[in-house]
Amino acid sequence: MAAQELLILTSTILLTVFGSSSDSEASHMDTSSFNRSSFPPGFLFGTASSAYQYEGGADEGGKGPSIWDTYTHKHPGRIRDGSNGDVAIDSYHKYKEDVRIMKRMGVDAYRFSISWPRLLPKGKLSGGANKEGIQYYNNLIDELLSKGIVPFVTIFHWDLPQALQDEYGGFLSPHIVNDFRDYAELCFKEFGDRVKNWITLNEPWSYSVGGYGIGVLAPGRCSEWQKLGCLGGDSATEPYLVSHYQLLAHAAAVEIYRLKYKDAQNGQIGITLISQWMIPFGKAKHHKNAALRSLDFMLGWFLEPLTYGDYPHTMKSLVGARLPSFTEAESKLVKQSFDFLGLNYYSANYAAYSPQPNSTHKSCMTDSQANLTTSRNGVPIGKKAASDWLYVYPRGIRDLLVYTKKRYNNPKIYITENGIDEEATLPINQALNDTWRIDYYNGHLAFLLRAIREGGVDARGYFAWSLLDNFEWYAGYTVRFGINYVDYKDGMKRYPKLSAKWFKSFLRKAHR
Ligand SMILES: *[C@@H]1O[C@H](CO)[C@@H](O)[C@H](O)[C@H]1NC(C)=O
Ligand SMILES: *[C@@H]1O[C@H](CO)[C@@H](O)[C@H](O)[C@H]1NC(C)=O
Ligand SMILES: *[C@@H]1O[C@H](CO)[C@@H](O)[C@H](O)[C@H]1NC(C)=O
Ligand SMILES: *[C@@H]1O[C@H](CO)[C@@H](O)[C@H](O)[C@H]1NC(C)=O
Repeated sequence: MAAQELLILTSTILLTVFGSSSDSEASHMDTSSFNRSSFPPGFLFGTASSAYQYEGGADEGGKGPSIWDTYTHKHPGRIRDGSNGDVAIDSYHKYKEDVRIMKRMGVDAYRFSISWPRLLPKGKLSGGANKEGIQYYNNLIDELLSKGIVPFVTIFHWDLPQALQDEYGGFLSPHIVNDFRDYAELCFKEFGDRVKNWITLNEPWSYSVGGYGIGVLAPGRCSEWQKLGCLGGDSATEPYLVSHYQLLAHAAAVEIYRLKYKDAQNGQIGITLISQWMIPFGKAKHHKNAALRSLDFMLGWFLEPLTYGDYPHTMKSLVGARLPSFTEAESKLVKQSFDFLGLNYYSANYAAYSPQPNSTHKSCMTDSQANLTTSRNGVPIGKKAASDWLYVYPRGIRDLLVYTKKRYNNPKIYITENGIDEEATLPINQALNDTWRIDYYNGHLAFLLRAIREGGVDARGYFAWSLLDNFEWYAGYTVRFGINYVDYKDGMKRYPKLSAKWFKSFLRKAHR
């Protein structure tokens, strides 16, 4: 890299991280020195979404219920505003407009998920495939391709068919492995002629810990002693089982893709994991080890088996017999079962050593013997967003990527989510002037570029979360992650925020 480029890049980063002297709209829109051309040729820029958060059409077109339909309807008190995804942002009907918005922004790729119960209302192939559901995704895929936008398809983004939860407890049971493989194969068969980028699972950590460790996500399970009003469960064992079967289901889908589809369809398949970056709370060795253990319990839980065929040794020693083990055949199947790694990065934590004197109440949240916090001596780790877990820490994306490269054998990586939210109570004119989101993207993209240039990380693409405001799980519609605004009170009308204009300018291609 030329010295001048480095200088420009560095000043962009300083500007981004420490704020510019003039906080005017014009300076936020300046992409003349840092833009898509700063990235390697072929690097993809996209936006991301998921079926339950976007589609709506919950009972339309032959779709069956998912655990999120059941959970939000039976337990509205567990969603901050008592809402649900029945209509969400109506992308089931508005997908053409959504593709137009992306085209206008100039994005290269779109990450969306397929709703399992829309394709298989009873969860299983033997229950019959839903032609109307298949048609919806054919329409969406064709619309994207007609506008030159590359689809990245998540096969499972948490909306499990309720039928499988009822029959055998969903991902708590080994039966899920074959049913997931069959569903994935249906996707390859129906869409693989046009979809070349597959993501098996979205954030298995969140699905396990959120759904079975602390009960904030469907199906809302955790140990009774936590007094979180959970719907049954055992935080000491179930999250580990659910993660285990997610890994085996993922590996089974990848196996069939590689055996029957990959070569003929000329595609690639991976998985999306999430991790916070973990910073030692202090200089002491036991804090450093706590940070490393915390990475093991969030990222390594999945990436260690996917890379090396077994769980991290820290987990094996701390969780003991509660951690399932892989047979030799399973280990072989899981190891190297990805062509690329999807990484979702939002924020960072401090990790402090925290021994567990209490042996009666175990949980996946405390097994790592680390206390995760977002401030130190009263100073927050970064600016707080609307979600209480989201503090802005742009250099964490670089540190996480460089760590992942070193520890996990330099995988090919796409950032599959990165973004920031604001309170939905902001008046529309203020929400549209989202300079904080431009700062967030500018900062994270600058550190992503440093990971590539200085850290030698093999990153191939970046997906911003999210294209539009949407249903944010337990927070309902109380926070907005969109680059484009959705007016829930006026027919789900979409408006570009300032950050959409910034993206358009950042993504503009030089014409020669
Ligand atoms: C947008 O916000 C910035 C501060 O972040 C302010 O300087 C500017 O005047 C605002 N623009 C509008 C149109 O409100
Ligand atoms: C993008 O940035 C480069 C410098 O890195 C600059 O030369 C180019 O003009 C910029 N492109 C646009 C469209 O602003
Ligand atoms: C363990 O923690 C629970 C509450 O989380 C408490 O009721 C119990 O007394 C604790 N036991 C010990 C030995 O500290
Ligand atoms: C975790 O850290 C916070 C902030 O330093 C502290 O208030 C809290 O007591 C700690 N919790 C445990 C279990 O160590």
